[in-house]
Amino acid sequence: MSRLRVRASGPLRGSVRVPGDKSISHRAVMLGALADGTARIDGFLNAEDCLCTARAMQAMGVDVEGLPETSLMVEGVGLSGLREPTGELDMGNSGTGMRLLLGVIAGQSFAATLTGDESLSGRPMDRIAAPLAEMGASVSGQGGRVLPPVTVRGGTLRGIEYHTPMASAQVKSAVLLAGLYADGPTTVVEPGPSRDHTERMLRAMGADVSIDGLTVTLRPGRELVARDVTVPADFSSAVFVLAAGLLTPGSEVTVEGVLLNPTRTGLLEAMASMGAVVSVSDTEQVAGEEVGNLTAREAALGGCELGGELIVRLIDEVPLLAVLAACARGTTVIRDAAELRVKESDRLAVMADVLGAMGADVTEHPDGLEIAGPTALRGATIHSHGDHRVAMSAVVAGLVAEGETVIEGAECIATSFPGFVTMMQSLGAQCVEEHD
Ligand code: S3P
Repeated sequence: MSRLRVRASGPLRGSVRVPGDKSISHRAVMLGALADGTARIDGFLNAEDCLCTARAMQAMGVDVEGLPETSLMVEGVGLSGLREPTGELDMGNSGTGMRLLLGVIAGQSFAATLTGDESLSGRPMDRIAAPLAEMGASVSGQGGRVLPPVTVRGGTLRGIEYHTPMASAQVKSAVLLAGLYADGPTTVVEPGPSRDHTERMLRAMGADVSIDGLTVTLRPGRELVARDVTVPADFSSAVFVLAAGLLTPGSEVTVEGVLLNPTRTGLLEAMASMGAVVSVSDTEQVAGEEVGNLTAREAALGGCELGGELIVRLIDEVPLLAVLAACARGTTVIRDAAELRVKESDRLAVMADVLGAMGADVTEHPDGLEIAGPTALRGATIHSHGDHRVAMSAVVAGLVAEGETVIEGAECIATSFPGFVTMMQSLGAQCVEEHD
């Protein structure tokens, strides 16, 4: 167990590079494994979530060299080269790893059982089991919501047209990956614009993928060709540094080489609606994705109303947005965010508790939060609930709170942002880690 002690800080100053994008790292190692040829991955997120995915591919006979570093070589075994694992595949805390792999294994001629930690064991897999069953595979788990451990048994798959009940890149990706093995085209139609990294990477590797608005179709029949991948810095990690820069007095911080895929950068638009413009510079294209430097300076924030498709494009940033809202003048209303209830924790309930404990005025709604600010936050003892984004959001709140904020269970930060505490310290944050 580890604990963070955080005190009011500022000015924060400096330029940093955060670790590689989690979503792209998962996909690079998974799709690299299914390709013909060898691929080099640079900037791989060497953190627990993505390491679980890499180890799962190894357990299915794929040679992944370089673990646990940020440069890997993946020797692809081709679409039909995976071997039945001898034991269960432990996906740790990673919903993305588990859900995408269920799609891949649905196309194999073997069965596998996937397990996870306490948090992942409470996350529903019925959203994946339903479309995969329609395609001809079976996914069985615990209870009606198909909780892990889950067993997936591959079969001869049919192409389907699937309308996802929620905008979810994990569901879309699982269906498309199974679609690589189907007897005809597979189409996914979404209610909102979830992140599109799977489609981009499949296309770059030669798959026949067509996109028309919120409809994606994959026509099977082509092998995947190994492609080297340089993983850009993770926007969803950069945001913690940027938010700390916006909130703490006299600060100016830059995060370099950040992924700027528009399905991910909704928080920049939300910040702009709150009166804080994060500036973008030195943009370039890296492996088909725009990357650039982001700079945030201390700014006075105002409340705003957020909902609809913007929420999909900032889905992982809602806990942090709640912290910004508590510091903003006026009321912020976040709607259409019920998906937050089935993330690494129930992020609506947990953030209402965390900010409530720090003195904020937060009302929880079934699909969102209403936060009246600004609040002079007070230090408190917070539990992370095993959720990395809750823990890092609480650190940002602690940087502007009066007194000491103690975050218990901070080891979960390592699932997505190894080096977070050292990086924040290097910028001037008063944040100290203790181990039991
Ligand atoms: C992810 C998709 C998102 C996101 C998660 C990563 C991905 O989940 O919350 O952190 O890499 O596909 P949903 O697509 O289920 O909303």
